[in-house]
Amino acid sequence: MSSSKFFRKLRSLVFISTAATGITFGYSYYRNDENFFRTILIPSIMMLEAEQAHRLAVLICKWKLLPPVSYKDPEVLGTSICNISLKNPVGIAAGFDKNAEAIEGLSQLGFGFVEIGSVTPMPQAGNQKPRVFRLKEDEAIINRYGFNSDGHEQVWHRIQQLRASGRFEGVIGVNLGKNKTSEDPVSDYVEGLKLFSPCADYLVINVSSPNTPGLRDMQHKDTLKKLLTEVNKTKSSLETPKPIFLKLAPDLTHDELKDICKTIKRKECQVDGLIISNTTIDRSVTLRSSNSQEVGGLSGRPLKEKSTRMIEDAYKLTDGKVPIIGAGGIGSGQDAYDKILAGASAIQLYSSFVYQGPPVVTKVKKELDELLGINGYDSVAQAVGQGITKEKRSIFSYFF
Ligand SMILES: Cc1cc2nc3c(=O)[nH]c(=O)nc-3n(C[C@H](O)[C@H](O)[C@H](O)COP(=O)(O)O)c2cc1C
Repeated sequence: MSSSKFFRKLRSLVFISTAATGITFGYSYYRNDENFFRTILIPSIMMLEAEQAHRLAVLICKWKLLPPVSYKDPEVLGTSICNISLKNPVGIAAGFDKNAEAIEGLSQLGFGFVEIGSVTPMPQAGNQKPRVFRLKEDEAIINRYGFNSDGHEQVWHRIQQLRASGRFEGVIGVNLGKNKTSEDPVSDYVEGLKLFSPCADYLVINVSSPNTPGLRDMQHKDTLKKLLTEVNKTKSSLETPKPIFLKLAPDLTHDELKDICKTIKRKECQVDGLIISNTTIDRSVTLRSSNSQEVGGLSGRPLKEKSTRMIEDAYKLTDGKVPIIGAGGIGSGQDAYDKILAGASAIQLYSSFVYQGPPVVTKVKKELDELLGINGYDSVAQAVGQGITKEKRSIFSYFF
């Protein structure tokens, strides 16, 4: 064979195999194929530095580069929390879409609700980079973003625009934070409530991020009383009051949690629900990754048990009367189911979305549907708190 003929053949071969690979990848991407994401796309994205990868993922969702998932939520997954109807109980936790850029794209991936933020009143840059770390061996993340935020005004405009477009009817939660240099943290939350109540479905008072100095101290009963009293005063003055959730840290002791549960039972300090939990500063769990001692909040698999136990505790301390959104290390239907049995009425995930990609949403929903069925539940609501045995329930109702 002449050399020119050989090179022509080689060129066609390269062309055909490139085209075939492109078509296969395109098809797998389009179908949200779990294997493709796990073996090709996620490892490629992981080659980027963690914050760059996060930014890329937000942009992919913002520009809706992933096709909507075809999985139709079964009826059994339909539920409600604080009178907010959810087509399924799986939400994306705060911190992924901090600035409300990707709400529609995230919803198209199958999330039942999207929580944006934390958003601060004034725009702020957050902490110095690097500030996000993947703990691959532990399927965990440590972040010390420190509330990098576009600020209330810009974020409000984005949500307003989306609502006005009439394209989006899904559930949006707005997670509120405070500015690092704020001299009046209570007013940071109050201003957030006033601004976002008309366009959000629920609001979150986040006093549990570990990366803003002094923030977690606001969980202390006296400070919390003052904050929640103002929050309630503001809420009652609003034309369109929305449910308010309080997001808690998993590092609270049982007694601290008990104080909080007592506080929110007071009429002037009540909240509509709890989100349990934020990230942990605890490193006592066995972590294998070399960067596990980075400063910041740890999320993902190592947080799973700790947050589940706290949900169980809070459910008991509130006699199951305060709805809970459970978060922390959820990456499968079983994880979601465990949180529901512990007392969560809905759940959120973040870290498993980083490690498994968008297919995790459908996977969690399918597996949860199966588990509810196998265990004889006709709805998510029926299963809430059922992991707490009758024996434990009666003991607790005796004490509280
Ligand atoms: C990179 C990153 C940033 C986060 N930022 C916020 C935030 O701004 N506000 C907040 O309330 N929680 C934030 N979180 C906490 C999550 O909302 C969630 O509570 C926590 O990660 C536990 O869920 P997971 O184990 O599924 O990630 C952040 C988490 C991660 C990983």
